[in-house]
Amino acid sequence: MEFSQVEPSYISKDGCRLIWKGVDEDDQDAIVLNKHELENLFELLSKESTGKVELEDEFSTIWINTDTTQFRLKEHKMLEVKTSILRKKILEYRNVPHVINPIKIYPKEFFPSITIDNEENEEGNKLLDSVLADKKNIISESDFFRVISVRRSTRNFDTSKLVEQWKVDKILAAADTAPSAGNFQGFEVFYIKNKEIKKRLIEAANNQPYVNAPVVLIFCKDPSRVKINFPPEILAKFSLQDATLAAGYSQLAASALGLSSIWIGMIDEEKVKQIIGTDLTPSSILCIGYPQQKRLPKSRRKLKDLIHVIE
Ligand SMILES: Cc1cc2nc3c(=O)[nH]c(=O)nc-3n(C[C@H](O)[C@H](O)[C@H](O)COP(=O)(O)O)c2cc1C
Repeated sequence: MEFSQVEPSYISKDGCRLIWKGVDEDDQDAIVLNKHELENLFELLSKESTGKVELEDEFSTIWINTDTTQFRLKEHKMLEVKTSILRKKILEYRNVPHVINPIKIYPKEFFPSITIDNEENEEGNKLLDSVLADKKNIISESDFFRVISVRRSTRNFDTSKLVEQWKVDKILAAADTAPSAGNFQGFEVFYIKNKEIKKRLIEAANNQPYVNAPVVLIFCKDPSRVKINFPPEILAKFSLQDATLAAGYSQLAASALGLSSIWIGMIDEEKVKQIIGTDLTPSSILCIGYPQQKRLPKSRRKLKDLIHVIE
């Protein structure tokens, strides 16, 4: 694991994320510093001092020595970086020049209350921060914005931990709450409990072994349910959207319940149909379970790069 970069934090306004990367794309560790912790670290590094910064979680400490800075974390986990590299990156991060060029978001029928600053090297994603930031500093585990901002896919499930049936029920019920075209619910969900079938699905999913997960849900399109007088290609599109949205709702519900998941889109539709014995075409497989390791969310592009404002 090599130290890679300092980047804005989604969950701690005015703080930052320190990222370590491994060889694999998914191999990433991150530490989130809040404003106060970042300030303390900055203070020591900018003065070229040694010392330590205690993190708010009451377990973790950053030990800054002349050569190496160690991040001593929960459960004896440790991350390291050369102090000179950390100093350079943190100083760069804290001294970013701000060129303010506001972009406003004007979706139809919605008057914006938020202005995004178009800052090249901005120290935070302002809109996201303001949406995600808690007003009172108390956010429940299942707070919607917390759930969406901390969700992280996993491909490594802890197979020794069974997923409680009531959680599966809630995940399935969440799929049923998703909006659908004309409210016709043009999708069906196959909840695969059979161990042999789960194993066979691996091959139908391009040999992705994690498909054999504690909970496997297959979301299928069912255009025949969509009783709207439109051409078949429109109904096919609606049912794909219905199935996708329902899977998204279930994925978020799983996260809110402390589970992790991986969305499998790389599937051989015909093979899946044959294995589970249906004429309905699958759109995705959602694999759910307890993760072996809870990881921080991946970063995204900045909102100003994502949103095209048409005025
Ligand atoms: C439409 C779609 C198809 C995907 N297909 C696969 C897949 O076949 N195999 C896989 O391992 N991950 C798949 N993923 C998961 C993505 O790789 C993952 O969501 C992405 O890297 C972002 O990571 P995050 O979910 O942790 O934010 C898919 C995700 C989506 C939305």
